[in-house]
Order: sequence, then structure tokens, then C-alpha cells
Amino acid sequence: MQYSKVTPEHISIFQSIIGKDHVFYDEENIKHYAHDETEDLKFPPEVILKPRTAEEISEILKVCNKENIPVTPRGAGTGLSGGALPVYGGVILAMERFNSIIAIDERNLQATVEPGVINQVFQEAVIAKGLFYPPDPASKGSCFLGGNLAENAGGPKAVKYGVTKDYVLNLEVVLPTGEIIWTGANVLKNATGYNLTQLIVGSEGTLGIITKIIFRLIPYPTQTLLMLVPFFSAEKACEAVSAVFRAGITPSAMEFMERDAIDWVLKFVEVNIEIKENIKAHLLIEVDGNDLDVLMKDCEKISEVMYGFECDEILFAETAAQKENLWKMRRRVAEAVRSHAVYKEEDTVVPRAELAVLLKGVKEIGTKYGFRSVCYGHAGDGNMHVNIIKENLSDEDWNTKLPLGIREIFELCVKLGGTLSGEHGIGWVQKNYMDIAFNEKQLDLMKGIKTLFDPNHILNPGKIFV
Ligand code: MLT
Ligand code: ZN
Repeated sequence: MQYSKVTPEHISIFQSIIGKDHVFYDEENIKHYAHDETEDLKFPPEVILKPRTAEEISEILKVCNKENIPVTPRGAGTGLSGGALPVYGGVILAMERFNSIIAIDERNLQATVEPGVINQVFQEAVIAKGLFYPPDPASKGSCFLGGNLAENAGGPKAVKYGVTKDYVLNLEVVLPTGEIIWTGANVLKNATGYNLTQLIVGSEGTLGIITKIIFRLIPYPTQTLLMLVPFFSAEKACEAVSAVFRAGITPSAMEFMERDAIDWVLKFVEVNIEIKENIKAHLLIEVDGNDLDVLMKDCEKISEVMYGFECDEILFAETAAQKENLWKMRRRVAEAVRSHAVYKEEDTVVPRAELAVLLKGVKEIGTKYGFRSVCYGHAGDGNMHVNIIKENLSDEDWNTKLPLGIREIFELCVKLGGTLSGEHGIGWVQKNYMDIAFNEKQLDLMKGIKTLFDPNHILNPGKIFV
């Protein structure tokens, strides 16, 4: 793709649209907006714009569309597939000033929210009204809802409550050509034409800029019980996962951590827990609801299932502090790996009963290509994060051989009925593998949709497709 450079004339046009105070091109800002949380990738933008209204975004996009300037939308920059990286330079459209919870409609259990609201801030605001917005990615304390929508984020609660898309009813979107549209209606059922709302969710900022979100909410479950189940075999832990659902229970979280994942956390994050030498993996299982007796019975049933898969003694979190401690151990695996290793993170997903086969396959592929992987994630969804550590691999092997190993991992996922990404997206880092999941016809359909929305391919170019 050939794009125009941002000139001083463009900058003064942008300043006239959003005001001088919201246009940045100094070294420090360029450096900050050159990266997100994806590995060590850096692509400097030429200018950072921080608009406040849909109308301002519309004016900016009209200019960029006419002048052939690439525009990369950005939430909090917590993405893991490079969705917010300005790979062709140009404009970063930073959504941080869209930070208002406009309304929480308690009569309809709905909320109108701007995309720059932090996930946890929104969760807490609705909990205060006895309501629940379940999607809870690991970065919930800092990630923006707009980014969550762009990547269709998940998190531990997805196993019972679904992912971001399951809570989005309607969206205000600015198209790359400048028009401002609503995608649907504020209703729970909608059989009216194509579903533009769900087309935008998960489109990784390539089709339009989300400026308002109508969410559906549900009543807040007041009680949770949490158990940590140690296993002598990681594959057995994976096999135990689907047995719980077959026994008639849907936990509100069902997380897997292999031994290596736990060791990484315990080395770098203060978590108060002793893990025996012979333990090879854990499942962290939560049930939620409003009746503690029912939840106790669920836990008894889950324990029965677990002991059938040769686990060690199950630990029940007795206090809120213990629960928090266990969740800290799980939530901070990625951070522990990220801050202490050169790594690549894959977001594999298969039907949940195939999880053990996937784990075994990942380890075999690792042995074949000489890499170590740290596996953990949302086992109840069949969604396993695979963090591949560079360690002693030469740069040559890391750059040339590793992609072949990753390709084999993805081929295995697809063979098992799964796909490339469960919740992190394709973005910049997985796009070379899209041919494994889709044939030419399927990819052409998607590219046709992209061109219909964005005829000049100015919006988040270089993402999803090669
Ligand atoms: C997680 O489940 O911990 C995240 O999706 C992975 C990450 O933050 O890298
Ligand atoms: Zn995750």
C-alpha cells in the first residue's frame, strides 16, 4: 500500500477540527503511541489526534480519506495482536477522551457508553446498581471497552456468560468515508436485515470507528465459590474440563495453568501459595449465583468429577483475600512472562473436549522445533494461550523456524475444529496464518466487505489480511 505522508498543512487542518491542544507530534508521544502490549513491536505514527465527538472524527476521516492518509484507531493500547499499531505511520486516532458512561437504564437493563471507558470502571458502575457486565479480560483494570469490542474480548467469565459480542446491542459508528451511522436497534431480538452491529464487533478497527455503544446487562450474581484443583498430569487436567459440563454444571470460570505458567507467576509476582513438586497443572474453577447452598452442591459435584481424573487434594478459597490471591496467580501469568522474556503469544482455541489433544500437540511441536511454551488460559472455552519463550533459540531459528512451528500449531487447531484466535484477534501478528483457517473464497468475501466500508483502505491498514 502507498499512503501519503502527514504534512504541516494536514496538521493545521487537524488542529482546526479538534483544537491545537489535542494534536500531538512530539517525540515522547510518538514513542508512546508506537507500541501496544504486543510483544516488542514498534511502529511510530506521524501524528496523534484525540478527538471528543463523532462529528470531529467524521471530519478527520473525510480529510484522511481524501488525502490517502492511514488512520489507526487506538483504545488503551492493551491489545495483544498489534491491532493498534500504526504499521504504515499516519494518524493515531486515540479514543481516550470518549470516556463517559452516558446512561445506565435500569428499566431495560441497558447502558449507553463511550468507547474510552475502562472495562472495570464500567463493571463497577453497573454493579453499584445490582447489574452485571461480565466480559473481564485480564487487562480489565486498564483496557477500554472500545478495544474490547474491536477484538471481541473474552476473559474467564466467558465460559458461562459469553464474550463481548454477546452484550452489544447497537453501535454508533463513523465510517472511513465520514458518514455517522447506527448499526441496529436497542433491542434484545432483532431479525431486521444483516447484522451490522456484529460485523463491527471483532472487526479490529478496520471498518469504522465506534463512538457509542448500547450494552445489554444482566442481574449481578451475588455469591461465588472458588476452588483450585492440582493435577499430577496436565493432560488429565485438560480432560477433566469437558467432564464438568457433561455432569450438568456450567462454572462461571474454568481456567487452566500448566506447571510452567504457575512457576513464572510465583517467580515474579507475590502470591502466597505452596505448590508440591509433583503437581503438573491446575484448574481454577469458580461457580456463581445467589444461593450458597446450591453453589456448595455444585462444588461437591465438580470435586467428584475432578477426583475421577487423578487430582490431588482440592483447595477451596475460604476468604475474599484467598480468592483474590488465586485470581492474581491466574491473571498475572501473561504479565510475568511478558516482563521477563522474549516471547510470542498465541491464542489457540479448539472445541473444549479437544483441549488435551491440543496441549499434547503443542508440546510435541515445541520439541520438534526446539522451543518451550507456557500454556494456560480459558479451558472451559477450549481457549488456550500458548506463550512461546525464546530462551536459547538463535535469532535465525526464532525468525525463520518458529513461524513454521506456529503454523503447525494452528493447523492442529483447525484440524481439531478450532481456529487461530479465541479472544486476542488477528491484527498484525497472526495475519500470515489466515490461509489456514479460511480458503480464498472466504477471504475474498471478507476483503470485499472491507472495501465496501473503506474503499481507499485508510482505516487500520495492514491488519487481518496479508
Ligand atoms: C489472559 O487470559 O491472561 C490474557 O488473555 C492473556 C494476556 O494478557 O496476555
Ligand atoms: Zn485470556
